[in-house]
Formats: sequence, structure tokens, C-alpha cells
Amino acid sequence: MWTSPPKSWLFFLSNIFILSYLSSTCFALDFSSNNANLACSQARTSLGESIVQGVNDSDYQSAAEGYWNLFNTEFNPTCIVFPRQSSHVQIAMRSIFEFDVDYAIQAGGHSGMKGWNNVNSGILISFKFMNHISYEPSRDTITLEPGIRWGESVNALEPQGVSPVGGRVDDVGTGLLLGGGISFLSPAHGYAADNYVELDVVLVNGTLVTATESNQYSDLFRTLKGGANRFGIVTRYEVRAIHTGRASDKTWFGGLVTYPNTSFDAVARAVSHYTRDVDDPKAAILIYYGAIVLPDDTMTNFIGASFYYNGTELPDHIFGELLSIPTLSTSFGPLSWHDITFSLSEPLPSNGHGQLFEGTALAGGEDDLYEDVVRHWVNFTKTFTPDFNTSVLAFTPIPLSQTLIGRERGGNVIDPPLVPYNSIHVQVTLPFGIPQISPEMEEGRQLFLKQAPRSPGLPLYINECDAKQNVFETYGQYDFLKETHSKYDPTRFNIRHTNGPIGL
Ligand SMILES: Cc1cc2nc3c(=O)[nH]c(=O)nc-3n(C[C@H](O)[C@H](O)[C@H](O)COP(=O)(O)OP(=O)(O)OC[C@H]3O[C@@H](n4cnc5c(N)ncnc54)[C@H](O)[C@@H]3O)c2cc1C
Ligand SMILES: *[C@@H]1O[C@H](CO)[C@@H](O)[C@H](O)[C@H]1NC(C)=O
Ligand SMILES: *[C@@H]1O[C@H](CO)[C@@H](O)[C@H](O)[C@H]1NC(C)=O
Ligand SMILES: *[C@@H]1O[C@H](CO)[C@@H](O)[C@H](O)[C@H]1NC(C)=O
Ligand SMILES: *[C@@H]1O[C@H](CO)[C@@H](O)[C@H](O)[C@H]1NC(C)=O
Ligand SMILES: *[C@@H]1O[C@H](CO)[C@@H](O)[C@H](O)[C@H]1NC(C)=O
Ligand SMILES: *[C@@H]1O[C@H](CO)[C@@H](O)[C@H](O)[C@H]1NC(C)=O
Repeated sequence: MWTSPPKSWLFFLSNIFILSYLSSTCFALDFSSNNANLACSQARTSLGESIVQGVNDSDYQSAAEGYWNLFNTEFNPTCIVFPRQSSHVQIAMRSIFEFDVDYAIQAGGHSGMKGWNNVNSGILISFKFMNHISYEPSRDTITLEPGIRWGESVNALEPQGVSPVGGRVDDVGTGLLLGGGISFLSPAHGYAADNYVELDVVLVNGTLVTATESNQYSDLFRTLKGGANRFGIVTRYEVRAIHTGRASDKTWFGGLVTYPNTSFDAVARAVSHYTRDVDDPKAAILIYYGAIVLPDDTMTNFIGASFYYNGTELPDHIFGELLSIPTLSTSFGPLSWHDITFSLSEPLPSNGHGQLFEGTALAGGEDDLYEDVVRHWVNFTKTFTPDFNTSVLAFTPIPLSQTLIGRERGGNVIDPPLVPYNSIHVQVTLPFGIPQISPEMEEGRQLFLKQAPRSPGLPLYINECDAKQNVFETYGQYDFLKETHSKYDPTRFNIRHTNGPIGL
């Protein structure tokens, strides 16, 4: 455990002096043997005690527990740094680098992967207090600090009628951008990250650089479109503004649909056809098969779906097959972008549950494979009822329009081939408070991945994968990713000291 020496000592004494002082007392602290303590102490000397907090300070607990996935609350960072500006991140990162300490970054805290956003015996950098957002009309861009969430950003800019391309659930944060980022705006505007204009990035050694599509850091700029937490800490995102209109501008049509489980196969085929055939950037869908364990330990399953069209109706040539399948309920009408942003508020129970992600990807038109994926997931959920709380199998079409926008904007590292495909995500939510998955259920999850392999050549989605999946290896720009990593992190400091995607 780390406690900061009183400020007055720090003011007068060097670290070396503190070391010799402490080693001559009977304090339980042993600064000399713990680099994390030293790094925390050094950062606190420079930044002060409201920015660098120990376990008993005011904001530490809420940040250490502020995770969507219960598994990520099981860490004890030595101290948490709460930067207010980039220079604070630089100072923290210099201490982390100098003392060779483990570290992690927390933005919206929604990672499904254990350990990707928290750390034991190391330094957590939490962006809780860097959450400003603004719109600059002369550049037609939005500047975001990393601590904001997508719902907050849409609300903040509603009066100006603009939004960033973000996520589909309002509570999710900006870490989404670094993995690519899928929005209902993506068919028309690309992955969220394809909308970067300028990024401030703190490299592992504490150097701050500003990266753009065309300056000397253009390689770094490109790798941050999919490179996740491996390439530096982004302290400012400037992104293109999308003119989504005010909350009263009902320029979209659509809404939510549910289907009974007797429609499982028909919907799987319709999703396969939609994925292959629809390349209209005004159309966006998300299909989520859900299994919920009921209080009597039985399971119920159904499909939820969101259908949206930037226009006044759901055109039949796009949605006809999906709408011809028997439903349980439909609620369609004119919608604003604001309505759509808040239509999927946390479909699942949030915080307090262990969460597990895994992903696969299928080319459009492979009807049998879509049905198989559903069958394997149903088998998983039936086998493990009642030992989970909910599970979701979600299908997101990635149309050619989306991939082409990425290429036009200088490319992202995901760089899918020019094939329409579906990004498929499985989420397993454990019962409240259960701290780990049973070995049998974990085996069942891994069996699903073997039974539902991705179609050859298609990329997996890093924000929705299992930590064991080598997603980088599936990227179109894997070699470029590796080269750029060795350029900006020649000692592999990030790989050695932060949990995150494998493959570099
Ligand atoms: C309920 C739910 C809904 C979702 N919906 C969508 C969706 O619609 N579309 C989609 O694309 N994804 C979606 N996701 C996945 C989402 O993209 C990832 O969970 C994403 O990583 C969350 O970002 P965050 O900031 O909330 O989380 P965090 O856990 O805070 O961050 C995610 C990762 O990025 C790192 N990181 C964050 N900020 C920085 C930074 N500034 N510099 C360097 N590294 C950083 C973190 O260390 C961590 O490894 C959803 C996830 C959940 C749980
Ligand atoms: C934090 O507070 C608890 C309870 O008062 C105390 O036992 C513990 O030693 C404190 N830890 C540190 C690192 O100060
Ligand atoms: C919706 O479509 C119109 C053209 O009909 C286009 O001008 C507008 O930018 C689109 N909206 C979004 C958010 O893409
Ligand atoms: C559909 O639900 C019924 C009743 O709950 C159940 O018996 C059946 O197995 C389910 N079918 C599938 C495909 O899960
Ligand atoms: C699932 O989680 C929700 C939210 O925590 C809870 O209300 C519900 O009782 C849980 N159900 C089961 C079967 O654990
Ligand atoms: C169903 O799942 C169980 C548990 O993972 C597995 O043992 C079994 O082989 C699966 N059955 C099929 C037909 O895939
Ligand atoms: C920090 O790392 C970058 C990338 O490797 C390098 O160009 C820069 O010189 C380093 N700065 C310092 C102060 O070592």
C-alpha cells in the first residue's frame, strides 16, 4: 500500500533523502523495494495530492470501482492519477517509464476484457476529470477529451446540431475510438476512428506529439485507428462533426423490433442476405439474439433488433425480408439522432456483473454459417442455464461503404478486404457478484469460437473480442502495425507493462 509522505517533506527533500529517512524508521512502507511507490511519490511531488491519489483519498475508490465489468474492479492500483491536462499525463508517464512500472488507462471503463483498463501494483490514469467537449464551426470539428461518454457528447452538442461518430450505447466511453468504433452512423461515415482530424498523444516515454493524417506522425495517426491501447495515451481527439440535427429534427425513421425464438433461423438468413446485399449508407441495423435466465432458473430467448433509415420510411427493398418474419413487437416512427442515441441505454444489467466477450466475422450470403452460429450459441446458453445472467449474440453488418470511407480517409489498420461482412459479438454476463467464470463455461465459450471461426481474410473487432483472440493478426495492416509499434515504443515498454491486445 502506498501512502504519500506529507507535502512539507516532499517540498524540502529529494526522493533519495526520503528513501534513507524511511528505511531508518519502523514504517511499514518500503519505498526502496517498490518501484510503483516511487513512481507514485515522484508524480505526486510534481502534480500534487488532488491529482495523484492513494487508496484513502477522495476519488480513488469511485474510480477503482467505476468499471462496467466486475472483473475490472478486482485490481488495486498503487495510486490513481487524475489528469486535468495533457502535461499531467506526460509527467505521470515519465515516472511510469523511469521506474519501469505497470500502468493502465481508464476512460469510460466499458472494456469487456479483464485487466485492459486497470492494474495491480502500478499506476492507473483515470480521465474522469478530463471530459470537456466543444464544436468549432470554422473547422467543422469536435474536440473531445477522453473522459466523456457518447451520450454526454450528444447531449452537449445538441444545441449546435452536431455529433461525433461514437457508439450505440450512451454510457460507453472514448476507448471505443482506439479500437475502431461502430456507430449507426458508420455505414455513412465510417468507423468512428475514420473521423479523426488531429490527436494529441503521449508516448510511453512521456513525449507529447500531435498526429494528423499528413504530418510527420501520420503513421501513428493511422495506427490509432484500431491499435487500441498499444500506441500511446490520447489526451485530445479532434474529430469531424456530423450534422445530425437537433433533438426535434426527426430526420430518421425506424425503431425497435423483437422476434420470438421460432424466428431464429429466418432472421439468421435475413441477416446473411442483408449483409451481402445492402450497401445503402442511409441504412443501419443491429440484431441481438438474447438469452435471459429467469428467477425460476429457466431461460427465455428472443431477438431484439434496431432498424434505422436516414429518411421517412424503412424502404422495402432493404428491410422487406427482415420485416416479413413473424415478430413479437415493433415500435417504428420518425426519430431524431438524439432519440436513436438513447434508444439502447444499457440493454443488459450494468456494473456488478462479470462480463466476457468474444468475436467472430462472417462474409454476407453464407446462410448456413449464420444459422450455425445461432445454433452453437443457443447450445451454449442451454447447456449453461442457469449459471449465467444473460447472454447476447449480436450481428453488425459492415457494408462496403464503411470500408471504402476508411480507405478514402487515409486508411485504418483494420483495413478489411472489399467484401461485405458481419462483425459478430458474443457477450456472457455472469450472475451478480460472481467473481469468475467456471472452467466448464469457459471451455464452452472457447468451443463456440472453434465452432464459429471467422471467414478467411476477415478482421475481428478488437473492442468485442476475447483477450486470447489474436485480433491484430487478422488486420489488413498487421505488418504496418508492428513496424509502427517498434518505431514509437522501441523498448516494448507498453507490451511489458500494460494488459491489452496480443499480437505485437
Ligand atoms: C454495453 C456496451 C455497449 C457497447 N457498444 C458498442 C458499440 O455500439 N460500438 C462499438 O464500437 N463498441 C461498443 N462496445 C465496445 C466498446 O467499444 C469497448 O468496450 C470500448 O473499449 C469501451 O471504451 P471505454 O472508454 O468505455 O472503456 P475503457 O475500458 O475505459 O477503455 C477501453 C480500452 O481503451 C484504453 N483507453 C481508453 N482511453 C484511452 C486513451 N485515451 N489512450 C489510450 N488508451 C485508452 C483502455 O485502457 C482500455 O484498454 C460496447 C461495449 C459495451 C460494454
Ligand atoms: C487507509 O485507511 C485504512 C482505514 O483507516 C487504514 O487501515 C490503511 O492503513 C490506510 N491505507 C493507507 C495506504 O493509508
Ligand atoms: C442523411 O441524408 C441526407 C441526404 O438525404 C444527408 O444530407 C445527411 O447528411 C444524412 N445524415 C447523416 C447523419 O448522415
Ligand atoms: C424457444 O423457447 C421454448 C420455450 O421457452 C423452448 O422450449 C425452446 O427450446 C426455445 N427454442 C430455441 C431455439 O431456443
Ligand atoms: C440478472 O441481473 C439483474 C441485474 O443485476 C438482476 O436484477 C437479475 O435478478 C439477475 N438474474 C439472475 C437470474 O441472476
Ligand atoms: C453443446 O455445448 C456443450 C458445452 O459446451 C458441448 O459439450 C457440446 O458438445 C455442444 N453440442 C454441440 C452439438 O455442439
Ligand atoms: C521518446 O520516444 C520517441 C519515439 O521513440 C523518440 O522519438 C523520442 O526521442 C523519445 N524522447 C525522449 C525524451 O527520450
